[in-house]
Order: sequence, then structure tokens, then C-alpha cells
Amino acid sequence: MKAIIKSGITLMAAIATIGCCCNKEQECNKECCGEELSKEQVVTENILTRRSVRDYKPEAVDREQMAKVIECGIYAPSAMNKQTWAVRVVDAPDFIEGVTAIAVEQMPQLKEQPNFRNFFRNAPTVAFIACPEESYSGEYDCGLLSENMMLSAWSMGIGSCCLGSVVPVMNSEAAKPYMERLQLPEGYKLLVAIAFGYPAGDAPVAPERDATKAYYVE
Ligand SMILES: Cc1cc2nc3c(=O)[nH]c(=O)nc-3n(C[C@H](O)[C@H](O)[C@H](O)COP(=O)(O)O)c2cc1C
Repeated sequence: MKAIIKSGITLMAAIATIGCCCNKEQECNKECCGEELSKEQVVTENILTRRSVRDYKPEAVDREQMAKVIECGIYAPSAMNKQTWAVRVVDAPDFIEGVTAIAVEQMPQLKEQPNFRNFFRNAPTVAFIACPEESYSGEYDCGLLSENMMLSAWSMGIGSCCLGSVVPVMNSEAAKPYMERLQLPEGYKLLVAIAFGYPAGDAPVAPERDATKAYYVE
């Protein structure tokens, strides 16, 4: 947990200045302490240390920080710059608790999860990402937008987690009032939800990656 926060704060300071990896008031055990971090180091460390966070502190993400996260999202590339996405951010407790009640009704076993507070992995802020039902690039564009949002959040010490499991619950009849509150454009479908919040609990370990899936061909 401390490691996540430290990593986030460290990156924030580094990104703000593209300078030292720590500021003088913070303890830093890195060998590079006192040295300048390159843009490449800042960016790659941010990408490689981002993890799906599945437990959060109760306070909602600061809306100014979230505005920056959204801005980073919409600066993602999109086919022909069509920006085929709709993003709706929710931090209203009644919305989150209402959808949670519906999810628990449908899947009572959810309550057995340790520290269960809500269906969004206990996140206090959730972004709903939607794209046109008929679109050549919508899902791809939304994927790029989503990752931009998650990486920018991580650089500010904000955890996130993509939640595909939210979609069938949101599409269920019981959740219709909540879908209506999202005011998605006509013909759009909900693709994924993204949990955002300040991390609580232990630092997640990176699930193993299969490096053989990507290689040069000659
Ligand atoms: C489209 C998509 C849907 C996902 N849905 C869920 C989900 O419903 N619940 C969950 O806990 N994690 C979900 N995840 C997170 C993945 O499990 C996670 O990204 C993966 O295990 C790799 O871990 P990392 O993000 O920490 O690197 C989803 C990720 C993606 C990209």
C-alpha cells in the first residue's frame, strides 16, 4: 500500500518536473535519488507499475484530478479522429450504492468478498465508457481512451480497474434508471466501467505476462 502511494507521489513529482525521482521531503531508497529522471523513465515506470486496484479509500477522487484524467482520455488517438466514445463519470454515492444493491440481488455471493462495500471494487468514483453499437473503431478507440485515463490516474497516485463485469448488471432491467441517468447518446452501448480511487490495502502484484506473444518477424 505504502509502495503504491509512494510510487504515485514519486511519479507525480517526477512528471511535474521531469526531474528528480523524489523530492527532498520524502524518503527515497532508489539508487537514482538525486538524479534527473528522463521522460522515458517516467513514462515507462508509470506504465509498468500500473496495476488493477481492487480496494479503495472511501473518499471520491478529487474532481480537478478527474478532469485531468478525462482530458488525457480524450487525447487518445481515435480512427479518423471520430472520438467514438462517451464517458460518464459518477461519484454520487446513491448511484454507486443503488447499482451495488442490484448487483447483490443478482449475485448474493458478492457480499462474501473480503471488505465488500460496493460492486465497483469499493471504488468511490466510476467512469462508464460507451461507444456506438455500430462502429468500425468504437471499441478500439474506447480501449485507447480507457488506458490513457488509467495511466494518467496512476501518475497522480489514483488507482483504477477496468470492470467488464459491470456491463451485464447495468444492462439488466433493474438498472434501467441508472442507465438513463448516464444519458448515453442514442445508439450507444456500455462497453466497460472503470473504477477510480485512492488505493487502500496491499499493493497488487503484477500478473505474469507472456513475452512470447510479441516478437519481430524477419
Ligand atoms: C476489458 C477488461 C475488463 C476487465 N474486467 C474486470 C472485472 O470485471 N473485474 C476485475 O476485477 N478486473 C477486470 N479487469 C482487470 C484485469 O483482470 C487486469 O487488467 C489483468 O488481470 C491484468 O492485471 P493488471 O491490470 O494489474 O496489470 C478487466 C480488464 C479489462 C481490460
